[in-house]
Amino acid sequence: MCGIVAAAAGNNIVPVLIEGLKKLEYRGYDSAGLAVIGAGAIERVRSTGRVAELEAAATGTRAVTGIAHTRWATHGVPCEKNAHPHVSGTIAVVHNGIIENYETLRRELTAQGYEFTSDTDTESIAHLIQASLQGEPDLFKAVQIACRRLVGAFAIAVIDQNQPGKVVVAREGSPLLLGVSEAGNYAASDASALLQVTRNMVYLENGDIAELTAHSVKIARLDGTPVERPVHVSQLSAAAVELGNYQHYMQKEIFEQPEALANTLEIVGGSKSIQPGIFGAAAADLLADVDSILILACGTSSHSGYTARYWLEAIAGVPCNVEIASEYRYRTSVPNPRQLIVAISQSGETADTLAALRHAKALGQPKTLAICNVPESAIVRECSLRFITRAGPEIGVASTKAFTTQLAALFVLTLVMAKVKGRLSAEQEATYIDQLRHLPVAINKVLQLEPAIKSWAKRFADKHHALFLGRGRHYPIALEGALKLKEISYIHAEAYPAGELKHGPLALVDANMPVISVAPNDQLLDKLKSNLREVQARGGELYVFADADSEIREAEDIHLLRLPEHYGELSPILHVIPLQLLSYHVALVKGTDVDKPRNLAKSVTVE
Ligand code: M6R
Repeated sequence: MCGIVAAAAGNNIVPVLIEGLKKLEYRGYDSAGLAVIGAGAIERVRSTGRVAELEAAATGTRAVTGIAHTRWATHGVPCEKNAHPHVSGTIAVVHNGIIENYETLRRELTAQGYEFTSDTDTESIAHLIQASLQGEPDLFKAVQIACRRLVGAFAIAVIDQNQPGKVVVAREGSPLLLGVSEAGNYAASDASALLQVTRNMVYLENGDIAELTAHSVKIARLDGTPVERPVHVSQLSAAAVELGNYQHYMQKEIFEQPEALANTLEIVGGSKSIQPGIFGAAAADLLADVDSILILACGTSSHSGYTARYWLEAIAGVPCNVEIASEYRYRTSVPNPRQLIVAISQSGETADTLAALRHAKALGQPKTLAICNVPESAIVRECSLRFITRAGPEIGVASTKAFTTQLAALFVLTLVMAKVKGRLSAEQEATYIDQLRHLPVAINKVLQLEPAIKSWAKRFADKHHALFLGRGRHYPIALEGALKLKEISYIHAEAYPAGELKHGPLALVDANMPVISVAPNDQLLDKLKSNLREVQARGGELYVFADADSEIREAEDIHLLRLPEHYGELSPILHVIPLQLLSYHVALVKGTDVDKPRNLAKSVTVE
């Protein structure tokens, strides 16, 4: 989603702004722009192309103060007039989020004589700040006055040509952090944009405003009360956000999964037993009387939740429900104060998941756990318990290593809940922990199937639809396979529990409909085989991912790949990997933009 970079420094900041935008490209965008205070006036450059085109257009622009933006269109089509920054008189502003009362503001400001030149909600912020400056000439205070009129979510950065050397930033609902250093002070939507200049980060809270100059940082609440925020030294490695020898971030992230799993599970250590404290100091008390679990998440993160539901009910005996966050937040539900709310999110900033979490808390559900890849994110900060997956930065829009590390975290939760409920013997616990520890090795072996999967991918290039089948805890893996294929190759894909085939989707099966089946050797394999025969009988072409010991044979209409190991309860973590690889290679064959698929953004920070 949109990205912000802002800088006030002693040297030319244009290269910092451009490099920062390049680091934010992964979030998804359709236009880009920057504004700096040049020789006493705002200089603005905008482009509807890639950041590289903006860079070319900005050649020769030099300044010590500026703001920059990548825009993911919400109000108004992607075009130059809608690209940020938006200018009103002496000021320029960039904005992430959605202003819900922008129509009211627009009417009011138009009546005051302000002329709107774009279709965006952001332009009303620019005019509102300019109007505030008429009564309050100090930019820091004028932005406070303007922000108090805004309804919705925002992170903004503002410059005023009459107050050179100064950038004012503010946030409410959308992420924004500061980078502080001797050479200058900066702001951005995420830390990856600022690692080029500093590791010292200050995370702004909702309702914070800050004024940056080359030598000072001043932070206050939007009502003007000064506040201090701690400086964190970012552990994010600059190399982790580089592509290295890979062609795409998605490819890199698929192959990083053994390491991501090993890092995530490091917290389990060498012990044969897992303690509730792994989720935070308060976990033992908080989990003791939990009677059920409600998982809230979106997209891929919801698929890890659906998988965990099978584990939590089968192993821990805890009733578990999974809800798509955007649905839960608006439906009338029956609150249960003993229920544990688990918010799962790679970014920790997904607007719907955050709102669903807040909704649950407002209903009187105080027991909350975040499973998240970003320790400083809003979702982590707003939950009483946390498990930080250590997947490292995930740049590709299609989530891969975040998913498998979430699954590992959820399996750890299952073991802890099973212990709390007295349903896990020491021997079973030790066996499961050994299996968790062996995962990186097992995943490495699955990754070696890549050449065979690549050869399958060519057969999908001319297909318009695909069907994914799974059963039991592998049904959510089929859902995840279908989501991966559709988002990066644009092939329409649907997933069904295989037993559901004859209740409708079988009507779609013919020679043009590839049917991909997740077929591990579990207690449902025989049932699944019957479902696959139903597909064969209708002339369907099957692509089956089986285990080494699954008794399924290759045939003219069955393409078969065997995963090297049969992995019991943890098998979903292995079986999703060939599906990630298949989508990746189909997208390559189709020539789509793998890391930045059309219309999508990495972090969905607006509703
Ligand atoms: O950051 P989150 O895990 O909260 O994001 C949720 C979804 O937006 C995300 O998983 C999305 O579905 C991915 N593009 C899927 O690959």
